[in-house]
Amino acid sequence: MSETRIYDVPREWAEEAYVDNSRYQAMYEASIADPEAFWGEHGKRIGWFEPYTSVKNTRFAPDVSIRWYEDGTTNVAWNCVDRHVAEQGERTAIIWEGDDPSQSRHITYRELGTEVQRFANVLKGEGVRKGDRVTIYMPMIPEAAFAMLACARIGAVHSVVFGGFSPDSLAGRIADCTSTVVITADEGVRGGRRIPLKANVDAACAKTGGVASVIVIRRTGANVPMLAGRDHFYDDLAATVSDECPCEEMAAEDPLFILYTSGSTGKPKGVLHTTAGYLVYAAMTHQYVFDYHEGDIYWCTADVGWVTGHSYIVYGPLANGATTLMFEGVPNYPSVSRFWEVVDKHKVTIFYTAPTAIRALMGAGEEPVKQTSRTSLRLLGSVGEPINPEAWEWYHRVVGEHRCPIVDTWWQTETGGILITPLPGATRLKPGSATRPFFGIRPEIVDAEGKVQEGACEGNLVIADSWPGQMRTVYGDHQRFFETYFSAYKGKYFTGDGCRRDGDGYYWITGRVDDVINVSGHRMGTAEVESALVAHEKVSEAAVVGYPHDLKGQGIYAYVTLMAGEKGDDGLRRELVAWVRKEIGPIASPDLIQFAPGLPKTRSGKIMRRILRKIAEDEFSALGDTSTLADPAVVDDLIANRQNKK
Ligand code: WT7
Repeated sequence: MSETRIYDVPREWAEEAYVDNSRYQAMYEASIADPEAFWGEHGKRIGWFEPYTSVKNTRFAPDVSIRWYEDGTTNVAWNCVDRHVAEQGERTAIIWEGDDPSQSRHITYRELGTEVQRFANVLKGEGVRKGDRVTIYMPMIPEAAFAMLACARIGAVHSVVFGGFSPDSLAGRIADCTSTVVITADEGVRGGRRIPLKANVDAACAKTGGVASVIVIRRTGANVPMLAGRDHFYDDLAATVSDECPCEEMAAEDPLFILYTSGSTGKPKGVLHTTAGYLVYAAMTHQYVFDYHEGDIYWCTADVGWVTGHSYIVYGPLANGATTLMFEGVPNYPSVSRFWEVVDKHKVTIFYTAPTAIRALMGAGEEPVKQTSRTSLRLLGSVGEPINPEAWEWYHRVVGEHRCPIVDTWWQTETGGILITPLPGATRLKPGSATRPFFGIRPEIVDAEGKVQEGACEGNLVIADSWPGQMRTVYGDHQRFFETYFSAYKGKYFTGDGCRRDGDGYYWITGRVDDVINVSGHRMGTAEVESALVAHEKVSEAAVVGYPHDLKGQGIYAYVTLMAGEKGDDGLRRELVAWVRKEIGPIASPDLIQFAPGLPKTRSGKIMRRILRKIAEDEFSALGDTSTLADPAVVDDLIANRQNKK
């Protein structure tokens, strides 16, 4: 960390990008000095049915209320589709690249308009009305985007659930927002393997009541059981409806979507985003951070089941009239050159992926990259977790051939869009740093007592004022919203991340400071994995922590105490891994399981997670004070039986 290389902004970038450094400084200062004026101006980038007169009405204390553009009305689907059909209907909106390299599709804005309207009519036919929640459990096929936009068009609130989640996880999310309609596919296809999505929906519906309609897209044509009266193939419904459906006029603060995300305690929270502020922020960050210009072919490799897919595959790019690539597959199928082959095939100019993918591909060496041309690329992006400088350098040197700036974008499901990031024409890059705040963002670093730190410092990252893309509430639990994000530091949004600021004012995210771990860019609550483990009949107690993992960033380390008489062996390890996969999904699989006769607890019975974290991190010398433990001897046993990293 002491010696950091600095990459200057390439001259042509400073000249041709939307913003160079002096413009960044001026715009940033203006955005902080007068947020009303700044966002009042930038709100005009989207189209409105009724223009707004109020811009910002937000407070973080004594309670939380966040409203942007509140008297304006608009519609997200109108902005992402209709507006462009009128001006550039023949432009490609979505390039779909299938898991199988021989399959791809180009969908123009005009075609997108037809598909979205037809889908909207299908939803109406199934009884969906403004304000209703619709769960979307889909593979990465264009119909996922059609479904999201169809909901937006009629004012329904979508809840997209990542296709890798288990039936149990899906059931919990359906129940939490009381969706009566679920949209899915017969099967998904990833890396040559089939994913039984419809079967998972059936299993979820068996766990939770209330689903009246399941709409099934035919992806593979597999023969899936269909429950009469409840299940319908999309094709059959679509054949009976018109492809014209007017847009619902939505108030700026009407809900757009719910997305469930893990926290440090309890079940996943339904993060609620609303209409206008979210769209303004997603579109504006997409334009400036990726320096999106007409003619760019933009590819974000995320899944629409995560916020990155919402903001930077669907809403931001489409609001800007961009061509967005949607990829069904995985980075290493059929070969580890796949990403770069897709870049060449579709002449991708902007490529946005996660550090975990870069690290995995780095492991396969330079040859699979060098076999491809990649000359179309002009900008690279990173998201989801801190990118280690080695991976950054490899991405820059091997993938981008020193030509492409890298934007390391820090943000969260809660923030709706990117908050801390380089702007490629403005920001000198330091590998591993997300660099500087986007317009309107006021990051601060506070100590444990909430005292704001100045200059170069390290502490907890908070944001001092609202921005239009911020989440508005936890669905159905506004009190939890307040307590989770606004109670630790009065009047400030607490991110849950630790952060260092260097002498140049650059931000370096150091990772979560709460009981959330980041596995391959996927967020996981340790409490969720623990509760899955203790639900197993042989487990009496479990404590889960993260540990450094070469490929995943963090791995999942589980300490498990068994019921009396049970024997901990590799067979049971396998059984528990399979159990957690079934309970939550493959992304929650423990990497290492240590059977522990006892866990380190205080005399009042609280598990000392700090000690467990240190043991998992192999930092035995840094255990700190263990004298307050009820039974200090358990620590020696834990150290002696530490599981080895894979
Ligand atoms: C957490 C949010 C943002 C979309 C994907 C993840 C970590 C995210 C970075 C980055 C360092 C990062 C943070 C954050 N994170 N991007 N560029 N550098 N850390 O969204 O699932 O809500 O997770 O991901 O720890 O709090 P999410």
